[in-house]
Amino acid sequence: MTLVLGIESSCDETAAALVTGDRRILAQAIASQEDRHAPYGGVVPEIAARAHAERLAPLIDKVMREAGKTLSDCDAIAATAGPGLIGGVMVGLVTAKALAMASDRPLLAINHLEGHALSPRLADASLEYPYALLLVSGGHCQLLRVDGVGQYRRFATTIDDALGEAFDKSAKILGLGYPGGPAVERLAAEGDPQAVPLPRPLVGSGEPHFSFAGLKSAVLRAHESGRYSAADIAASFQQAAVDCLLDRTRIALEEMGHVNALVLAGGVAANCTIRGALEQLAEENALAFTAPPLPLCTDNAAMIAWAGIERLAAGAKADPLDIAARPRWPLDPQAEPVRGAGVKA
Ligand code: KG4
Ligand code: ZN
Repeated sequence: MTLVLGIESSCDETAAALVTGDRRILAQAIASQEDRHAPYGGVVPEIAARAHAERLAPLIDKVMREAGKTLSDCDAIAATAGPGLIGGVMVGLVTAKALAMASDRPLLAINHLEGHALSPRLADASLEYPYALLLVSGGHCQLLRVDGVGQYRRFATTIDDALGEAFDKSAKILGLGYPGGPAVERLAAEGDPQAVPLPRPLVGSGEPHFSFAGLKSAVLRAHESGRYSAADIAASFQQAAVDCLLDRTRIALEEMGHVNALVLAGGVAANCTIRGALEQLAEENALAFTAPPLPLCTDNAAMIAWAGIERLAAGAKADPLDIAARPRWPLDPQAEPVRGAGVKA
């Protein structure tokens, strides 16, 4: 049975996991850095890199002990090689290189987004290619068709902020602290989603791209007006986000042709209101719906190990030990740049 050690360090979670080819997570550990970044209201790259460097080795050791395995039991060592905060990515990738070299195991340099994209297949053995993927995280907001391992076609991306970023910035405006997504979701449950008139950027436009910068600015104006409670603003913001996701996903599904399922992945997929809305959209389109369980939605190493397993099964060989960490690494390099967009992958 294939066994892969996964390592994740691209943002503010340091994580290691041992996963088998028959979808068992033998052991996993995640060290969150929330407490270190909270005073700044967002992830500070330098602090993140240092924390990864301090924590990763003991974490890997813990996972190996818990599972009762050694590196020589592993078929490969898979680590996130990008995209992400480059200092953190380098810590994880260099660690993986050292372990691969010392144990003479193959190194697999994994695209973090591929980890998110394939994570639903770790949780759900019945999910078959091709599927429509709405990938919503702190750094990305994309609609892709997943045709197989390494075969991703991008239909939409954000022209400015990612949705998770909009959640985090709105949380900061409302004084909810960091990380913002879960805090906004909790407060939204106490508010009226129709109370505050907020824009739905790009809704109705022909191409299925996203834009959330204007929505975040409208949250700031609503807050500064003093006319609305924080709960009503949070609920209205979340509703506007849902409306944008539904409208854009509907259009992308029309463009994609046949798919077997609609899949939601990435950190924002932890949001229950968003999950519910997308599940209903899938039902309307007679598609199966799946989203990974919450711990597999936010950054974790099991999804990186799983992407390694999928790549091995697809015939992938070891990546060279001098492979570089990449701050940007689009899943679909052929995708046309979006007019008016910034530099995000
Ligand atoms: O995938 P992830 O863990 O890291 C990135 O690769 O970006 O996603 C983190 C993002 C953050 O912006 C966080 O606020 C958001 O996911 N998030 C949520 C929820 N839980 C996490 N957003 C909305 N509702 C949630 N419950
Ligand atoms: Zn992520």
